[in-house]
Amino acid sequence: MSAHKITALVTGASAGLGTEFCRQLADRCDVIIAVARRGDRLVALREELAGRAELHAVEADLTSVEGVARAMEALRQQGPVDYLVNNAGFMPYGNFADIDIQSQRAMVSLHADATITLCRAAIPFMRERGSGFIINVSSIGAFLPSQGLAVYGATKAFLNFYSLALQDELAGTGIVVQALCPGYMHTEFHAAMEEKGFDKKRVPAHMWMTAPEVVTASLAGLGSGRVLVVPGEGNVALARGGLQRQLDAL
Ligand SMILES: NC(=O)c1ccc[n+]([C@@H]2O[C@H](COP(=O)([O-])OP(=O)(O)OC[C@H]3O[C@@H](n4cnc5c(N)ncnc54)[C@H](OP(=O)(O)O)[C@@H]3O)[C@@H](O)[C@H]2O)c1
Repeated sequence: MSAHKITALVTGASAGLGTEFCRQLADRCDVIIAVARRGDRLVALREELAGRAELHAVEADLTSVEGVARAMEALRQQGPVDYLVNNAGFMPYGNFADIDIQSQRAMVSLHADATITLCRAAIPFMRERGSGFIINVSSIGAFLPSQGLAVYGATKAFLNFYSLALQDELAGTGIVVQALCPGYMHTEFHAAMEEKGFDKKRVPAHMWMTAPEVVTASLAGLGSGRVLVVPGEGNVALARGGLQRQLDAL
C-alpha cells in the first residue's frame, strides 16, 4: 500500500490569500490541488513550489456547476484531502439595488454553494481517517451589517454560522473547522472596487494586514479550538462592536 500523501485543496489559489495558503501549506503538505480561473497563475505557482510540494492546477470557474464539478473531479483523483481551504471570493462594489443581480448571485454561488459542495465531498473521507482541517474564508464583514455589504456580508455571515454548526456536528471526529475572518488585507481584492471609486488610502494604514500575516494566524489557530478566527486585535474589537450592534437591534 502506498504511503498517504498529505494533501490540500485551495480555491482561489491564483492570487492573494489563496496563493499564500499554498505557499505556507507547502511546508505541511505533499500535494496541493490549486483551483482558480487563471490557469497561467497556477502554473507559475507550481513552478515556484517545485521541490516543496506537488501542485495540481485546476482551472475552474467555481460560480458554475461545471467548474465545481471540475474541482470535485480533481478531489476524487488527487484526494482525499487533509486540508480544504474554501478561499475563492470577490465583492461587487456598491449598494444592493444599484448593482446587477447576476454578479451578486454569482457571489452567493461562489461563497456558499461551492463551499458546502466541496465540504460535503471532503468530510466523509476526513471522518473515516479521523482527522482533517477545513478553513472557510469569511470576513470581518460578516459581523458588520452595513452599506455596501448587504449580500457580501450575508454570504460571510453564512460561512460563520455554517462553520460553527458544522464543527458542532463534527465534534469528536478529529475534524477541525475554522471560519477565517480577515479585516482589510493587501491583495488584489480591491482592484475592481478601486476602478469604481473605492480609495484604499482612506482606510488607515494600521487597519491593513498582509496575506502572510493572515495565513500564519489561520494555521496557528487550527489547534486553538476556536472556530471563528479574526486576525488582528483591532479587528477583534470591530467584530465585537458589530455583534453588539446586532444585539442592540433586537
Ligand atoms: N482582501 C481583503 O481585504 C479581504 C478581507 C476579508 C476577506 N477577504 C476574503 O479573502 C478571500 C481571498 O480574497 P483575496 O483578498 O485573496 O482576493 P484576490 O487577491 O482578489 O483573490 C481572489 C481569488 O479568488 C479567485 N476567484 C474569484 N472568483 C472566482 C471564481 N469565479 N472561480 C474560482 N476562483 C475565483 C481568484 O482567482 P481567479 O480570478 O484566477 O479565478 C483569486 O485567486 C475572499 O474570500 C475574500 O472575500 C478578503
